Amino acid sequence: MTDKTSNKMWGGRFAAGPDAIMEAINASIGFDKRLASQDIAGSRAHAAMLAAQGIIDTSDAEAIREGLLTVLSEIEGGSFEFSAALEDIHMNVEARLKEIVGEPAGRLHTARSRNDQVATDFKLWVRDQLDAAESALLALIRALLAQAGAGADWVMPGFTHLQTAQPVTWGHHMMAYVEMFGRDLSRIRDARVRMNESPLGAAALAGTSFPIDRDMTAQALGFDRPSANSLDAVSDRDFALEYLGAASICAMHLSRFAEELVIWSSAQFRFVTLSDRFSTGSSIMPQKKNPDAAELIRAKVGRIFGANVALMMVMKGLPLAYSKDMQEDKEQVFDAADNLMLALAAMEGMVRDMTANRAQLGAAAGSGFSTATDLADWLVRVPGLPFRDAHHITGSLVALAEKKGCDLPDLTLDEMKSAHADINEDVFSVLGVENSVNSRMSYGGTAPAQVRAQVARWKEVIG
Ligand code: ARG
Repeated sequence: MTDKTSNKMWGGRFAAGPDAIMEAINASIGFDKRLASQDIAGSRAHAAMLAAQGIIDTSDAEAIREGLLTVLSEIEGGSFEFSAALEDIHMNVEARLKEIVGEPAGRLHTARSRNDQVATDFKLWVRDQLDAAESALLALIRALLAQAGAGADWVMPGFTHLQTAQPVTWGHHMMAYVEMFGRDLSRIRDARVRMNESPLGAAALAGTSFPIDRDMTAQALGFDRPSANSLDAVSDRDFALEYLGAASICAMHLSRFAEELVIWSSAQFRFVTLSDRFSTGSSIMPQKKNPDAAELIRAKVGRIFGANVALMMVMKGLPLAYSKDMQEDKEQVFDAADNLMLALAAMEGMVRDMTANRAQLGAAAGSGFSTATDLADWLVRVPGLPFRDAHHITGSLVALAEKKGCDLPDLTLDEMKSAHADINEDVFSVLGVENSVNSRMSYGGTAPAQVRAQVARWKEVIG
């Protein structure tokens, strides 16, 4: 006789139930309940296949499939009672199915194992997240394109080392992020193609002696094909790692942009005004409008990187095939996904609502001798000096302007000539910031015409 408290699913071999601590460390239901709808979809596909293959009766399969829908509605309606004693979502669902449909429920687990079941459920969940991230990225890219299109010719300072470098356009800066998020989009799409193979039917690790049809379940669940090696199928978490990898790179982009928004919205920069909808006030300083959403995005990305590293650590020492360590995959991915989606949505909202302060951007664009390179290029183009000499002469003029406390266009022609006799009036035509950006017509350059061409191209790409 087995102890009444031993597990229903494998009690045959056990004389006693688990210690409370064993239950606490073992149970995953606290978090894997998020896989409920995927688990039920997988089980419904499996039951239909078992009947189609003559492995179970059609009437049993119908009872199972119907019963599973009832379980799903109980879970979605909040009336389902999850039990830690039943460990995980798979056994919670099956136990409830048994209560609802009776004996046929016991036939559902024919020709499968929780190992292929969890791999299937989790893949379906991650696949949904890839799709959700794709939509969120598209929305963010659209918001950036709107900003870029509106300000394709608004000048602003471009920075290297966060020091004024050369004037660029607002549109060009926005489009730099479109490129980054565009790569994130393509990484996510690539990952989806690679991961879309069904583990279901790999069973515990070796496949099964029952005449299952893995193509049928793969197709029912929207997979492109069944995975080709049962050992790999149950022990592969590359799909979750690729998701976390793509999510991490995307999060890094979000964080860099968030950092710029924090700087740009400061009283010292005033490049942008964030909307009230995406800012907060201070409880003590009445003048404050804080870019909290940007700061939180910047901070939250650490959790996504952390999840990526944590799952790599879980996987790196595991012999084939399944080990319980792999149960630690889910919380990391859930947390990363929740935070990625929140960060993407918050960034999209901020970008959509923010106002670029054109006048302030323009005023800042001309400061810090931002057209010094244009002056050096003019010395190469017109009097024909070698670039190194032109660089040196321009440097001396920057030093002179700095000494006088003025900008380069404010130097007199005589002062210019004192640096090189061949300099003439024409030089002043290249010292303006508008001229500077308009001249940068090289492909991918900051000239408004180039920016507009890129906006048009991206609109076409994303449809
Ligand atoms: N809860 C488990 C997990 O998340 C399900 C698979 C359990 N498999 C097993 N052989 N104990 O990984």
